[in-house]
Amino acid sequence: MTVHVRRNVWTLPDGDLTLAHYAAAVAEMKSRDPQDPTSWFYQAAMHKTTVTPPKPLWNGCQHGSWFFLPWHRMYLYFFERIVRATVVDLGGPDDWALPFWSYDTGGTQARIPAAFRDPQGGTNPLFAQRGNNVNLGQALPFQITSPASALARPKFVGEAEFGGGITPDGDAIWNRHGQIELTPHGAVHNHLGGLMKNPRTAAQDPVFWLHHANIDRLWSVWASRPGHSDPTADPRWTDQEYRFFDADGTERTLTPAGVEDIENQLGYTYEPHPAITTPTPA
Ligand code: C2O
Repeated sequence: MTVHVRRNVWTLPDGDLTLAHYAAAVAEMKSRDPQDPTSWFYQAAMHKTTVTPPKPLWNGCQHGSWFFLPWHRMYLYFFERIVRATVVDLGGPDDWALPFWSYDTGGTQARIPAAFRDPQGGTNPLFAQRGNNVNLGQALPFQITSPASALARPKFVGEAEFGGGITPDGDAIWNRHGQIELTPHGAVHNHLGGLMKNPRTAAQDPVFWLHHANIDRLWSVWASRPGHSDPTADPRWTDQEYRFFDADGTERTLTPAGVEDIENQLGYTYEPHPAITTPTPA
C-alpha cells in the first residue's frame, strides 16, 4: 500500500504545489451540485449544518466524548481521498496529501498560513469568513494553543484525559471533552472565529482540514509515547461504527479499532515534526 505523507504547511519546499492543488480541488468541489456527497457543501454538512431536512450522513460530528478523535480521523481520511481524486482528475499528482497546520510550534507557524489569508478579490478558494485580524496573520497566543498539557495525560479515556469521556452510545454530542479537544482544538476554532467558530459551519473553511490534520497528528504523537499506544479495549469504543462517503460516492464504514494505526490501516503518516517547542512570543 502506498503511504501518503501529510506535511507541515509551513515548511513545504519552495515551488511545492500542494496548496495550489488543494485550492484547485476546493474550487472544483465548491462547483459541484450540493446534493453530491463529494461536493464541498455536502462534506461540510456531514460535520454539522444549519440546513434542514438533513441528507444521508449529515450532522455526524462527534464532540465531547471519546469518539472525538476517531470520528474526525475517519472524516479527514475520506475527505482527503475525495480531494486527492479531484486533484488527479484535474491533472495533478496521485500522491497528494492533506498538509497539517503546525500552530503548536508557536512563533511564525502559529499564524494562519498565508495562502488562506487573502481573499484575492473573492477569487481565492482557500479564503473564508473569519474573525478580525486573523486573516492578517495575527499569531495565536502560544499559551492557549500548546498541546503540552494534553500530551502529558497518561490516559486516553476519561473526562479531562487525553481523548475524552465514555458516552453511552456513539450518536450524540456530550460534555466529556478530552484535553486535546479543548486545547488546542477548541481554542483554535475560537481564535479563528467566523465560520470556524460554529460546528455547523466550521468545515466550510478550507483551513478546518489543516487544523484537524494537526489534531490528528497530535493523537499519533501521543500514541507514540511509552504506555500511550492503546486507547482502550472497550468494545463500546473499538466497535462503534461510523459511515462516510468515499471518493466514488459509495458509503463506507469504519470503527475506531480500524483507525488506530494510521500507516498500516489507513495508508498515511505524518512528516516528523516536533510536537512542542519553546514558546516564542508572537
Ligand atoms: Cu468537529 Cu474542530 O471539529
